[in-house]
Amino acid sequence: MSTLSTPVKNAITSLTQSQHEPFYLYDLDALSGHLKLLTEQSVVKLWYAVKANPLSSVIQTLDKAGFNFDVASSGELQQVLAQGIDAKRVLNTGPAKSKHQIETFLTQGVNTFVAESLNQVAWLQDAAQRHNTALRILLRVQLRWPDNEKNPLGGDSLTPFGLGAQEWGALTVSDYPNLDFVGLHIFQWGNMLEAEKLASLWQQMVDPLMTLAQQLKIDLRVLDLGGGLGIPYADGQPHIDWPTILRSLEHIKAQTNIDELWMELGRYAVGECGYYVNPVVEQKQNYGSNQLILAGGINHILRPAVTSQAFPATLLRESTSATIPYTLHGPLCTALDHLGEHSLPCDINEYDWVVFGQCGAYGFTESMPYFLCHTLPSEYIYQSGQVRCIRPPLTPENYLR
Ligand SMILES: Cc1ncc(COP(=O)(O)O)c(C=O)c1O
Repeated sequence: MSTLSTPVKNAITSLTQSQHEPFYLYDLDALSGHLKLLTEQSVVKLWYAVKANPLSSVIQTLDKAGFNFDVASSGELQQVLAQGIDAKRVLNTGPAKSKHQIETFLTQGVNTFVAESLNQVAWLQDAAQRHNTALRILLRVQLRWPDNEKNPLGGDSLTPFGLGAQEWGALTVSDYPNLDFVGLHIFQWGNMLEAEKLASLWQQMVDPLMTLAQQLKIDLRVLDLGGGLGIPYADGQPHIDWPTILRSLEHIKAQTNIDELWMELGRYAVGECGYYVNPVVEQKQNYGSNQLILAGGINHILRPAVTSQAFPATLLRESTSATIPYTLHGPLCTALDHLGEHSLPCDINEYDWVVFGQCGAYGFTESMPYFLCHTLPSEYIYQSGQVRCIRPPLTPENYLR
């Protein structure tokens, strides 16, 4: 797990002296260092899944590191293009590509799409023909294993992401002259921390995917394995081993003779660079438990409520007091506003701040910011030793109508 470096801790402490509201801070120096390690290889082409954190300066850092961009909405596309990134470096994934959205993407010059349904294929063909252009298409495949067989991909859970091999079997690729079916896309797992387990999942998918490509008469040049690489959120959890991931990918490449492997990384790319910094309102004892009430909760950082997995928390101030267990709560009028169980010093008071780590991915933009009309958190970056506010706080009078 990333530890708060002294310069970043000092920068946060300095910000808290003039702030009263929770805020995010992203350590872009640490992010650049991490991305360099990921891109120093020629095994897998890396795309950044913008949904993980669409902040302009985060996107710019990924751009500088050599990532391309996976976007899942017109809003994400706009944000990427606004950073001066060429539309030809954009890939569009996502189950809800309406005709209108497809039109917007083609108008903006995007030419690489992951198709998730037969309709999407037909609508992409219509749009490509109208625009007199050719598109690169990957078909998103959702695999299942029959009952009682080894079932690595989550059993029978049906998702809207892509189609089963049987459903794709209805496709005749020669019916779509403007679409070059370059590959297949598969991604059915999340927050994996063990490289060997992921390698074993990928290995079990190779045969069914190769069989499908043959059946559809697709000249398979690209295999996109999505995201799903994890980061540790709890003490004692391991870091996934990137060299082992690369070795498994190299093996798949050799085995399949595919030209390019792609991954679009979200959490693993940016998760460790972010901090959510949250003022303490009070601590109280209730039915024998220590409760810590914080100014911000799932209105700013929803993930603990939907995954039951807390972000790691520390007290910003140094304290020599003994630690005790606390349950952390935000300000919302729902018991869902719970930021986990944490061991923190017993002398925490209403002048303190709690810093949550691992908040660079699936933080603010995954949250429910308007509930109870609190101020939306500001977002700061730490870069080359300087702190800069990228998005100021938004007070309710500026968003309520
Ligand atoms: C199609 C696709 N690719 C990549 C990602 C990023 O996943 P992760 O953050 O696990 O890397 C997502 C996340 O939802 C996704 O939907």
